[in-house]
Amino acid sequence: MNKKILVTGGTGYIGSHTAVELQNCGYEVLIVDNLANSNENIVSQIEKITGIRPGFTQLDLCDRQATLDYFQKHSDISGVIHFAAYKAVGESTEKPLMYYQNNLGSLTNMMEAMASIGCKHLVFSSSCTVYGQPAELPVSEKAPVKKAMSPYGNTKQISEEIIFDQCLAGNLEAISLRYFNPIGAHETALIGELPIGVPNNLVPFITQTAIGKREMLQVFGDDYNTPDGTCIRDYIHVVDLAKAHIVALERLSGENNLERFEIFNLGTGIGYSVLDIILTFEGVNGVKLNYRIAPRRPGDVEKVWADTTKANEVLGWKAELGLEAMLRSAWKWEKFLQNKEI
Ligand code: UFG
Repeated sequence: MNKKILVTGGTGYIGSHTAVELQNCGYEVLIVDNLANSNENIVSQIEKITGIRPGFTQLDLCDRQATLDYFQKHSDISGVIHFAAYKAVGESTEKPLMYYQNNLGSLTNMMEAMASIGCKHLVFSSSCTVYGQPAELPVSEKAPVKKAMSPYGNTKQISEEIIFDQCLAGNLEAISLRYFNPIGAHETALIGELPIGVPNNLVPFITQTAIGKREMLQVFGDDYNTPDGTCIRDYIHVVDLAKAHIVALERLSGENNLERFEIFNLGTGIGYSVLDIILTFEGVNGVKLNYRIAPRRPGDVEKVWADTTKANEVLGWKAELGLEAMLRSAWKWEKFLQNKEI
């Protein structure tokens, strides 16, 4: 029998790509999502790609009893990949309690429900935001966790601590994956990022500007201490990122899982500036972007990219897709959205 994996937040951006990769590897996928920031039609999109419809239940993990009931009904779940969370940095500074209640409440309910059926394997969706502006680059997992710059970032830090304690208590074995900047979309352009309202992130803003949904892209600051003055990030293809979750799950169920709680950076190890992204996007897609230099965005880290040695050596995972593939797929997805409602 195929192993059954629960993907929370599985209709979201990274969750949906991970559901596809899990199915490609022969896992049976169950998705729960409260659809706060996504759409049930994504389940059909996943089915179009893989030929298999994942099990889907609309469930709010903040509802403790409903979560316990769900796990009782699916007591053969062998592992959980937990994506379900709010993720907008700006919104979190306006509505901190909403972020703490949702991101932490759902996590503790879910871990309680996992324990109730004896499910011990958890892969958690964390972020490089925990490093703030690192003193040394590339940043490794050994770098200190800095005071979070937003309630959103703080929920990731606190979540890692909660998971660590649950592991120490012997109830869990977990891997936390610290993502750098996931971009791009599945090569079929059947799933991708679906920002609600005005995008906060660079690449959705670029694609929406190129297609004419937004008038102009603002480049937030060109006076940073970087070669071209714009901020540097480690952009990673969402499909590469999705694949890392399967490797992490396999590590948890394998023999050589030595520590109960492990952390891995997921990036390419290469830093690109905002202007690099714009120029590459224009070049590979043959479009001209309307952009201008604007003031810095408060709270932005100047430069960050990953030391991926640990993920490469311990997980045996390496990002394979380069920036051009990322930006080509992002544009293909935007064009798909123009012609079709999801
Ligand atoms: N940027 C622009 N113009 C825009 C949007 C972004 O110039 O319209 C710039 C930003 O200033 C930054 C870079 O593009 O220099 C990347 O910005 P994103 O908003 O795409 O990504 P961030 O690195 O700010 O944030 C991402 C995730 C967060 C996570 C953080 C961790 O969106 O969830 O990485 O560092 F917390």
